[in-house]
Amino acid sequence: MLSTTALVGLLVAGAAASPSGIHDRTGRIVHKRTTETVELYAYGTNISGLAIYAGSDNLAYVATDDAAANLTAVTWTIDTSGTDAWTVAANTTASTTNSSSSLTSGSTFYIVSDSTSDDSFAQAGFVSDASSAPTGATTTGFVTYGPFVMVLDDTDDSGKETYVSEFWATETDTDGLWALMWNEDGSAQDNSVPVTLKTTAPVETELL
Ligand SMILES: *[C@@H]1O[C@H](CO)[C@@H](O)[C@H](O)[C@H]1NC(C)=O
Ligand SMILES: *[C@@H]1O[C@H](CO)[C@@H](O)[C@H](O)[C@H]1NC(C)=O
Ligand SMILES: *[C@@H]1O[C@H](CO)[C@@H](O)[C@H](O)[C@H]1NC(C)=O
Ligand SMILES: *[C@@H]1O[C@H](CO)[C@@H](O)[C@H](O)[C@H]1NC(C)=O
Repeated sequence: MLSTTALVGLLVAGAAASPSGIHDRTGRIVHKRTTETVELYAYGTNISGLAIYAGSDNLAYVATDDAAANLTAVTWTIDTSGTDAWTVAANTTASTTNSSSSLTSGSTFYIVSDSTSDDSFAQAGFVSDASSAPTGATTTGFVTYGPFVMVLDDTDDSGKETYVSEFWATETDTDGLWALMWNEDGSAQDNSVPVTLKTTAPVETELL
């Protein structure tokens, strides 16, 4: 079960509105599949639109430019309807990151949303083959709602499609480096803050 406690204002029920979906005459949601190439950014307390990176451990991180030296900048190919897995490839034009990355192009993004456990709190990451993802991993159901990244909650039996966002960032020993987590029940976690993932970069304001 995905809980909705940390979702204030972001929960979207299929009956009211559906990410990238329209209703047909029977009221069923028809998803329009579109594939886009994007970069993803995390927003939260002290995290004002920082890019998501792959570590050399193939786990997902949020980092400032200064802390990204050992990470791989990634470009995402996303299916906005949630049908296909989201994949990444190294962005080789990004200069601040690890240029000798071994990230397999086309690696699949996953979260661990273990349906057998309500309290899973685990780092998101990338696998070259979806079958080698950790137990409880989810590799599909990621959708966009406007610029927001949401995840389809298919454990709801009501027939409605529900979308949730339970991404969190946990501080690491390195300043400006956070592990990107999925927090199944949204409960408070040590050294961690909820983050929103968006396909839009922060607006840069110049102080004159
Ligand atoms: C945000 O940054 C400030 C200043 O560094 C710090 O005092 C505060 O604890 C941080 N808040 C969180 C939630 O990390
Ligand atoms: C990158 O890795 C090197 C070698 O392991 C380490 O000395 C350095 O502190 C790391 N830089 C960052 C920003 O983590
Ligand atoms: C790759 O990284 C560069 C430098 O950060 C950035 O300007 C560019 O938009 C990125 N390209 C893609 C397709 O993500
Ligand atoms: C850069 O990535 C390669 C391949 O993943 C890894 O072996 C190496 O340790 C990384 N370099 C740093 C400084 O983290």
